[in-house]
Amino acid sequence: MSLVQSLAIARTEEDVKDAYIKALGLKGVFKGLVDIQTPEIWFEAKETPTPPLLMFAQLLTYVRAARKRGEAIPGFLCVIDREKAALMATEHALPLLDDKAIVWPKSGSAADKAMAAQIAPTIETHFVLYQIDGYEAEFIKATKDAVREGRIIRTPITPDNLRQVFDKWVAMVGVELGVKRQADYAVLFFADIMHDGRNEAMRNLPARLLFNGDKPVFIIGAEQYELASERGYLNFWNIYHRPPEQKHRHYLLERRDSLLPMDDQKFKGAFYTPLHIVDKAYDQLAATLGADWQQKYIVWDMCAGVGNLEAKHSNLRNVFMSTLDQEDVTIMRRNPAFAGAEIFQYDYLNDDVTDFGEIDYNLSGKVPQALRQAIADAREGKKGAKPILVLINPPYAEAMNVDNVSGSGGDNAELKKGVSKTRIS
Ligand SMILES: C[S@@+](CC[C@H](N)C(=O)[O-])C[C@H]1O[C@@H](n2cnc3c(N)ncnc32)[C@H](O)[C@@H]1O
Repeated sequence: MSLVQSLAIARTEEDVKDAYIKALGLKGVFKGLVDIQTPEIWFEAKETPTPPLLMFAQLLTYVRAARKRGEAIPGFLCVIDREKAALMATEHALPLLDDKAIVWPKSGSAADKAMAAQIAPTIETHFVLYQIDGYEAEFIKATKDAVREGRIIRTPITPDNLRQVFDKWVAMVGVELGVKRQADYAVLFFADIMHDGRNEAMRNLPARLLFNGDKPVFIIGAEQYELASERGYLNFWNIYHRPPEQKHRHYLLERRDSLLPMDDQKFKGAFYTPLHIVDKAYDQLAATLGADWQQKYIVWDMCAGVGNLEAKHSNLRNVFMSTLDQEDVTIMRRNPAFAGAEIFQYDYLNDDVTDFGEIDYNLSGKVPQALRQAIADAREGKKGAKPILVLINPPYAEAMNVDNVSGSGGDNAELKKGVSKTRIS
């Protein structure tokens, strides 16, 4: 049955989607918030005839969110309904994603005519519209060609995702190199990212990347490293774009010394937050606060434990970490991953709380002056003041009654004790 025939008998949006999936022979399909998703192409589908610009507005809202989360986005975008389809290379829409003049809706489904009008001048001349009745073959050929081309828009490497990218590089590439010294990982990583696959983008780095045919060979001094398996290497460079933009390169290089592979043991305290959860949290922070949030916000984690929530932060100079137990403070201070951060012992539920329930940092004097100043400046709305982002995975406890003496917490009863007796109550 042809696509036009399948669409004629389609009753629901699901039927419309399935008709296109079958006609295009799409592989690796995922249906979620984005109606049809493959690594190469994403679709927005409607059951009834809908203006293409409105559908692109919705689809681009999802693309923008995915890009902010640091996910790879496909090379092509397509909008479909029961009568027509429109296909566009994603690159034409990229300028829109950073356009501050556009008011992006909170959800894709809220994309409306006003937004469609805003994106129209940029993309109108770049998508190709096909009426399926009459142009089915052309649409199918163009879309299959696009999928075959396998063009992917890769994620840029920036100051804010450096730590996350490095951790992924160690797991996917570094471990395949049989590196002898842990410190060499960062040097090799920079040789790899500061290369476009053909030429070095920066010279005089302590390590070099050369190619023996297609095979990457890394050189540090007299030592040479080759990959035990190339699969991770290919996957990694399918996700990220190299080299980083010129404007970031020197800054990224400066951060080299702060990058050491994560030794899981250093990140296992009594109540530690698992690192894969932290990674997701950072994706969400970038999606919510914008790609350069680590430059814009001062972070205070006031129940930092062994510090995992800050392990993926790439700009520790903007980070303050405090926690209850001095032992945890010592562990954090010893961890080179936190070099540059201010780390101190502080009981945020008791220290500095006056009898009237106000906060007075002079009471304990434990909060560093720089943080007090940052808080005061942010409160005053002083020009250039960075807002304070409280980033915490708080201790969990419930007050069962005023005295919180009920032991119904089972094994956790001990943790719950005395919550209402803190000065914060
Ligand atoms: C859920 S854990 C957070 C773990 C942390 N993100 C990490 O990965 O190590 C809560 C932490 O808060 C600390 N804590 C509990 N009560 C506190 C208080 N009153 N002031 C400061 N820290 C506190 C605990 O010691 C624990 O390390």
